[in-house]
Amino acid sequence: MLRASADTIDGVDALELPAGELLLRPWRGGDAPAVWAALQDPAIRLWNGADASSPDDVAAMLARRADWSAGDHASFAVTFRGTVLGSVSLHSIDPAQADAEIGYWTAPAARGRGIAVRAVVAVCGWAFPALGLDRIELLHAVDNPASGRVAAKAGFTCEGRLRRSYRYGDGLKHDELLWSRLSDDPPLAGSPAGRPGRG
Ligand SMILES: CC(C)(COP(=O)(O)OP(=O)(O)OC[C@H]1O[C@@H](n2cnc3c(N)ncnc32)[C@H](O)[C@@H]1OP(=O)(O)O)[C@@H](O)C(=O)NCCC(=O)NCCS
Repeated sequence: MLRASADTIDGVDALELPAGELLLRPWRGGDAPAVWAALQDPAIRLWNGADASSPDDVAAMLARRADWSAGDHASFAVTFRGTVLGSVSLHSIDPAQADAEIGYWTAPAARGRGIAVRAVVAVCGWAFPALGLDRIELLHAVDNPASGRVAAKAGFTCEGRLRRSYRYGDGLKHDELLWSRLSDDPPLAGSPAGRPGRG
């Protein structure tokens, strides 16, 4: 069973979510070097955007992500024994529509170990009940199949292709796939605690 140290973002407090051996926790200023290093990865710059072009930008971005007070996002550092391995963020939280969008990246050296899948599963497992969400959307470029694998393995359903729907880090508009997970979608097979195996 997923445990969280708080059950709402209305009270502003960011929280920590255990996810197997991973810990999802709020961003800290001290994470800036690890995030700056990750943002040098061409795939992250391409698919997540490069809205931080200097270490100072990263520090400012992390400060925004650590502040949940607006209620429109819940952003987590994905860590293992104190090391930042990735990022997962629930953004565009819309209480009226009971929906939100999820985004993520994994540092290059940590890829292929199920980090992103476990992080997405953990955040969804917390957010549906804690935030009263009914639908979480996930979008990725058709040209980014690794992200599609994360979506499928995290229990999302592909709903269709959006044509030239988003301008990515290469400056080009890409077709995207839209996926969703609903609050009453079936639990992931064999992983009630949100720890999917590989394969
Ligand atoms: C997409 C990304 C987050 C996946 O992170 P990860 O921690 O390695 O993800 P997981 O280990 O949980 O799963 C990765 C899956 O993608 C698959 N994959 C990796 N590269 C792939 C590729 N080029 N084509 C197809 N599948 C690929 C892996 O094989 C794995 O699936 P499998 O377990 O069925 O074999 C990571 O590659 C990344 O950060 N990419 C750059 C940024 C990005 O794309 N962010 C998402 C924006 S929507």
